[in-house]
Amino acid sequence: MFTRDESDAALARLLPKGVIPGVVADADFDMTSSDYYFNSYAHFGIHEEMLKDEVRTKSYMRAIMDNPHLFEGKTVMDVGSGTGVLSIFAAKAGAKKVYAIECSKIVDQARNIIAANGFADVIEVIESKVEEVDLDVKVDVIISEWMGYFLFFESMLDSVLFARDKWLKPDGLMFPDKCTLYLCAIEDAQYKSEKIDFWDNVYGLNMSCIKNVALTEPLVDTVDPEQVITTVEAVFPVNMATIKVEELSFAVPFRIRAARADYLHALVAFFDVEFSHCLKKVAFSTGPNVRSTHWKQTVLYIDRALPMEQGEVLEGILACRPNKKNHRDLDIAVEYKFEGKHVNAERLLRYRLR
Ligand SMILES: C[S@@+](CC[C@H](N)C(=O)[O-])C[C@H]1O[C@@H](n2cnc3c(N)ncnc32)[C@H](O)[C@@H]1O
Repeated sequence: MFTRDESDAALARLLPKGVIPGVVADADFDMTSSDYYFNSYAHFGIHEEMLKDEVRTKSYMRAIMDNPHLFEGKTVMDVGSGTGVLSIFAAKAGAKKVYAIECSKIVDQARNIIAANGFADVIEVIESKVEEVDLDVKVDVIISEWMGYFLFFESMLDSVLFARDKWLKPDGLMFPDKCTLYLCAIEDAQYKSEKIDFWDNVYGLNMSCIKNVALTEPLVDTVDPEQVITTVEAVFPVNMATIKVEELSFAVPFRIRAARADYLHALVAFFDVEFSHCLKKVAFSTGPNVRSTHWKQTVLYIDRALPMEQGEVLEGILACRPNKKNHRDLDIAVEYKFEGKHVNAERLLRYRLR
């Protein structure tokens, strides 16, 4: 890991403030990302997708309902309660009071769902952004499902940390409380050719200007574990009890080693999530080696194919920061250096996850 000063210096170099050359202009986007964001959660469809993600929802269910000793008689806050599902788990686990805070219009359905399941006397639904809630209480537990693609997409963690700092008791618990962002690399010749190199020659026409833009957009997709050609490195651990919002803009060094001889086409990021206060460990991963979730993995294509012999190392720096204009988007940069038997390469690449 870098020190905070090293991280800030690398961040300023990899993701300088202002317009980043090569990344699509903001002018195309009239609505703010917040408008899109909250409207999208008003419709039941997105909640259907999340609820049907059994890895996600059953992990929360087990973490909460298998640990009634952490919930019985407690006051709980559910930040971004959506349909109210996590609030109901907490009420079932014995919470005496649950504040379910939700700012999108799904809140109307949440009220119906909570009443239909007999928890209206325990769960108080508050229709508001958590940042605007006026509540003079301290809570024992904060539950929230805030994770986005690349862990930080949508920046909802900022809101959860706001709630933590305002309402959580000093000895209160965060559910979940630990997450880690991982990085590895894949061989992906075929798909890269279909998605990126396609623009080089479209019915005999050179459209490679679009190729340059396509390269800056990370792809959210499921990666076949057979494609992973390197070690997997934990690059950014998040301790929910202590992390500060400003630390969510970061630069971290990485070093991944080829596990076999192959071509490297892309870096892949994913995360895991842990509820470490549980009596028995409850955790889930969004990596390529386990059952896939709706977060899939995030693929960052690099500018060329790097031929790697087994044991050779790709090292570099990964930087990430919420976009200045649309703070729910992420600016990501990768600076890599590779000295191999077949090729030496050094490059700084920038991406926008939107
Ligand atoms: C990922 S969904 C999770 C919904 C539900 N907790 C679940 O697990 O199915 C996040 C929810 O948080 C809400 N949300 C996001 N930011 C919020 C904020 N600042 N204040 C209140 N609600 C917020 C969104 O509208 C969305 O319904």
